[in-house]
Amino acid sequence: MAVRTVLHMGGPLLLKVAEPVQEFDTPDLHTLIGDMFDTMAALDGAGLAAPQIGVSLRVVIFGVESNPRYPDVEAVPTTVLINPTIEVIGKETNEGWEGCLSVPGMRGLVPRYSHIRYSGRDQFGARIEREAKDFHARVVQHECDHLDGILYPRRIRDLSQFGFEEALFPQEE
Ligand code: NI
Repeated sequence: MAVRTVLHMGGPLLLKVAEPVQEFDTPDLHTLIGDMFDTMAALDGAGLAAPQIGVSLRVVIFGVESNPRYPDVEAVPTTVLINPTIEVIGKETNEGWEGCLSVPGMRGLVPRYSHIRYSGRDQFGARIEREAKDFHARVVQHECDHLDGILYPRRIRDLSQFGFEEALFPQEE
């Protein structure tokens, strides 16, 4: 497994609609997912989509451990989600700050649906179906957007709420 180069916003592959995975439990798919986890861990991300490492397939990973240092951050189960679909439950949205490994150093305030049901398969082809709210739902929507060529800055309503992390949050370490 290996840490791969993450494409940055402007890279044309990040704008493409990714292709569905056809075969599960293959060596290529396991290598891809292993590389994605290594890359996400090395860059301390909460999620990663295959197109971000240059592979235009409908594969995302995400996961956030609960951390006593960041009590406001909700834990999200470590998940491999392939060929995902999202169904919105209710119409409620909320705004939250997002970052992206493809837009390093920046943050933006992004509206997302508060409550969703998502489904797809894991790397072995087993079906996944879950309901998610709030931060968990936000992470899934952010990652799945990558599969349709959408980076979070396109979702920002008010571009005054988009900028460099250290300028937006100067009090943080
Ligand atoms: Ni992202």
